[in-house]
Order: sequence, then structure tokens, then C-alpha cells
Amino acid sequence: ATNKTFTMIKPDAVAAGNIGGITKMIEEAGFRITAMKMTKLSSERAGQFYAVHKERPFYGELCQYMSSGHIVAMILEKENAVADFRKLIGATDPSKAEAGTIRAIYAKSIEANAIHGSDSDENAEIEGSFFFAGTEKY
Ligand code: CMP
Repeated sequence: ATNKTFTMIKPDAVAAGNIGGITKMIEEAGFRITAMKMTKLSSERAGQFYAVHKERPFYGELCQYMSSGHIVAMILEKENAVADFRKLIGATDPSKAEAGTIRAIYAKSIEANAIHGSDSDENAEIEGSFFFAGTEKY
């Protein structure tokens, strides 16, 4: 069955002009974009989005970075969406990301790593709802 994941193109990739390159890779990998929004997060809202990382040493910096510029939030549909999308983006640390993955191509560092992908169906739903109202999700 088709299912969903959530993704966000991060400030480093938006600032570098890579929205087009990244969405092209996403579509060519067979994902259908069903909701899309370009916006900016305050550091407070970035902190809410990444609340699970609150105790990590990089949390403060992460909130600052994620609010440093525009982001593009998207809901994607595909069979096996969550796992296939994690494969497409590659490891968190771009120096460990497999060749040909979005992070291997576009990420600058372990923090400014170009793109986010939900890690479970449950988080895909929570994260999608963080950015999109029910009437925006078709
Ligand atoms: P993401 O997959 O969106 O989930 C948490 C984010 O925290 C991660 O991508 C990176 O942007 C950031 N992050 C993870 N590990 C580190 C780290 N060691 N140092 C700085 N930022 C990190």
C-alpha cells in the first residue's frame, strides 16, 4: 500500500539554490509530492520540531541553524515511503552517506545536511501535521 513520509529541505540547501535539484531527485526516485510549503521557522518552533533532541549537545546550535533561513516542507507518497526515503537521503553525516544519495551530493556538514526525512510512520504523521493543516493534506 502507498504510504507517506515527511521531508524538509534545510536552510543550507535552500540558500545554495538546490531546491530544484533535490526535488528532481525525489520525483525521479518515484515519490509523489502531495503537499509543499516554503517557510521559515523561528528558533522556538525549530526547537519544538526537534524536541526529541533537547538533551543533545548540538540542540541549541541546531535550533539556530534551522531558523537561519527558509526551508521547504513536503509530504511525500510512495510504497514503503519512510524506509525508501531514508535510503535516498543517506546517512546523517554526509562523509558517511553513500554515493548518489541526496546528502552525499548536497549536504555541507553533519548539521547542515541539506534535508530531513522522518524515521517512522508515526513521526511522518506528526511532522507532516506540524507544517500542514488537514485541509492542505490531500
Ligand atoms: P536530522 O536527520 O534532521 O535530525 C536531527 C538533526 O540534528 C540532523 O538531521 C542534523 O541536522 C543535526 N545533527 C545530528 N547530529 C549532529 C551533530 N553531531 N552535530 C550537529 N548537528 C547534528
